[in-house]
Amino acid sequence: MALINENYLKLPGSYLFAEIGRRVAAFKSENPSANIIRLGIGDVTRPLPAAVIGALHSAVDEMAREETFRGYGPEQGYAFLSRKIIDFDYAPRGIQLDEDEVFISDGSKSDVGNIQEIFGVDNVVAITDPVYPVYLDSNIMAGRTGSLGEDGRFGRVMYLPCTAENQFIPDLPRQKVDMIYLCCPNNPTGTTLSKAELKKWVDYARANEAIILFDGAYEAYIREDNIPHSIYEIEGAKEVAIEFRSFSKNAGFTGTRCAYTVVPKTVMGKTAGGESYPLNKLWNRRQTTKFNGVPYIIQRGAEAVYTPEGQQQIKALVDYYMTNAKIIVDGLKSAGLEVYGGVNAPYIWLKTPNNMDSWAFFDKLLHEVHIVGTPGTGFGPSGKGYFRLTAFGNRENTQEAIQRIKTKLSI
Ligand code: MLT
Repeated sequence: MALINENYLKLPGSYLFAEIGRRVAAFKSENPSANIIRLGIGDVTRPLPAAVIGALHSAVDEMAREETFRGYGPEQGYAFLSRKIIDFDYAPRGIQLDEDEVFISDGSKSDVGNIQEIFGVDNVVAITDPVYPVYLDSNIMAGRTGSLGEDGRFGRVMYLPCTAENQFIPDLPRQKVDMIYLCCPNNPTGTTLSKAELKKWVDYARANEAIILFDGAYEAYIREDNIPHSIYEIEGAKEVAIEFRSFSKNAGFTGTRCAYTVVPKTVMGKTAGGESYPLNKLWNRRQTTKFNGVPYIIQRGAEAVYTPEGQQQIKALVDYYMTNAKIIVDGLKSAGLEVYGGVNAPYIWLKTPNNMDSWAFFDKLLHEVHIVGTPGTGFGPSGKGYFRLTAFGNRENTQEAIQRIKTKLSI
């Protein structure tokens, strides 16, 4: 019999959102008439922008004609899209990139999960806590984390608590780490790091030969001036950082799937013998071996995001969700809850009333007012006593959810 990868046995019972789905399905089967409002997983609800739809249709028609049909595309993505990404998302911020530093993919979840493959198994990983579960789980699968301790933490992982006590700003690691996952604007807390805070991390990485894996999937939600839109706005970051960006949350591509990862050619790892090696080359090798590129049709759809109409339409989408965020923040505050995030991010992070256990509050919300959120502990030990709601619902459901919390929830 083939041996299994026993690292998988160290993973929590099921992926967080699968467990939520299981609990909701069980409730629904017992209460079929309940009108459940889902503000749990950060999945968008608005349709794709018209500019994207138009481009998708045209690309489908191209695939129907022999002269314009496309088979395999470049594994790294088509230049027509990587050029637009550079010209619109980076150049205006003074960041110069080459096309072969941008890798188009089917999603940031895939990329942040897969990126760890190009790193040594003995590296020490630092994650903020609470954290998007994929960063930790993918490292558990790879055997980089050690075992789970009784405190709910993996022995070889450096957890960086982010709670109300430190304004959700992680402290620099006390011991040397090799790989650091940062997400800004943050999922799940909805909070951000200022340029000055992020600079400390870039400086740390440069001084300690560490690599920052910077998840910028929620960049489009930044409203305040001093929040960096890209880690490459910080001097020296192109030596130490890989950045992940996505069309999921700004343009509604959660089901359509398109994202990109920037791996500057100047970011180096090293061999056991101490020789520097560009991570760009390794990621390129990984992608060309294991990935056959995002469909042509989808990349044409993503390209349309950069047309004048596309830009205006995605701005309207983001504004719509940020109005929801404000409704949630204001409503929860008026219900007397302690609330964070929701200003530069589509996530609202709240303290559970009376320090209630996060899963107990999940069950209470579901059973009493038929609302699905995400328990803070699902994102790590420091999520204890916290809870996340997303602003990605539709307006009517968001308003109704807040009304139910204010009038029907016993807190
Ligand atoms: C979340 O709810 O945390 C996100 O939607 C998950 C994801 O983007 O994969």
